[in-house]
Amino acid sequence: MTATFPALVLRKDESGSIRAGFEDLTSNDLPEGDVLVRVTHSSVNYKDGLAITGKGKIARSLPMIAGIDLAGVVEESTSDAWKAGDPVLATGWGLGEERFGGYSRFARLDGSLLTAIPRGWSAATAMALGTAGFTAMLAVFALEERGIRPDDGPVVVTGASGGVGSVAVALLAHAGYTVAASTGRPENHDYLRSLGANSFLAREDLDRDAKPLESDKWAGAVDTVGGRTLATLAAQIKRGGAVSVCGNAGGFQLPTTVFPLILRGVALLGIDSNYCPPLRRRAAWNRLALDLPADRIASWTETVPFRNLPQVAERITNGQVRGRIVVEVE
Ligand SMILES: NC(=O)c1ccc[n+]([C@@H]2O[C@H](COP(=O)([O-])OP(=O)(O)OC[C@H]3O[C@@H](n4cnc5c(N)ncnc54)[C@H](OP(=O)(O)O)[C@@H]3O)[C@@H](O)[C@H]2O)c1
Repeated sequence: MTATFPALVLRKDESGSIRAGFEDLTSNDLPEGDVLVRVTHSSVNYKDGLAITGKGKIARSLPMIAGIDLAGVVEESTSDAWKAGDPVLATGWGLGEERFGGYSRFARLDGSLLTAIPRGWSAATAMALGTAGFTAMLAVFALEERGIRPDDGPVVVTGASGGVGSVAVALLAHAGYTVAASTGRPENHDYLRSLGANSFLAREDLDRDAKPLESDKWAGAVDTVGGRTLATLAAQIKRGGAVSVCGNAGGFQLPTTVFPLILRGVALLGIDSNYCPPLRRRAAWNRLALDLPADRIASWTETVPFRNLPQVAERITNGQVRGRIVVEVE
């Protein structure tokens, strides 16, 4: 491996604020682990934006290599599960939070944290899904396991133009659901229609004070926004329906009542992609590869160079990113 390689490292400055900066590292800077991965691609999720800009406290210890996703090839391995040349990805597992993450040419980690890149996909394609796409798949799994079928009625996706939202729209439409996309950016309607959305809600239709129960409209929902949006959604879900609760782009509080749950049997299904167990991970990646053709994935993807990470982090935390961002790691 090369003597030095670049990484985006989070450190505390003299004032105590967390700053992200590019640094040249060597393999001695990497932690223990039985697999060394040559990272070729990563991605930018909302959480990455919070970590890099310092708008959210994501890293649990410092210094920390940021980046919750990585994809590339195995460079060296003493793990029985992997050999040099294997195409691999990792998402979550505390990457960029409690263990060094993906914004680095090399990552050394335990082989149990790696997943094979689905056959026929490149590392770039895997990162066009990344944590966001994987989370969308877990959210759809949760609705399906709850027994919600396309015939039960329309489903809603909130924060629809974002990473989790875009992939959720595409997956639900592919599975035959009638999808309403909730977005604060009407200029993205054509884009969302191209992913499979059938109708649209304005952000403020849901981001308002809700009654405990409202007229029931939706069989299910994938929510990436939280706050009042999730409370209004819960009040509008049909009897026996459910919301896959994924995010808090609009707030972390939940100003709701028990009435949707006890009078309509509505379920709030929590989605945790970070520590999802390996078997379910494999199932999710296999289903993503089955359901999403490469041209569909390309349609929501922007590719940026490594050195643009600070600017892209600002954009995603300001709600200015559409779909997914793939990072070409130097
Ligand atoms: N549970 C998990 O395991 C998991 C995994 C991944 C992500 N997440 C969470 O899911 C959320 C979305 O992540 P992402 O990577 O998809 O982020 P993203 O690409 O930035 O998408 C978020 C979307 O939410 C909408 N939005 C932004 N600010 C908003 C506001 N103030 N009020 C209402 N809507 C707002 C925007 O969509 P429109 O412009 O279309 O309205 C934006 O595109 C984040 O909270 C993230 O932390 C959770």
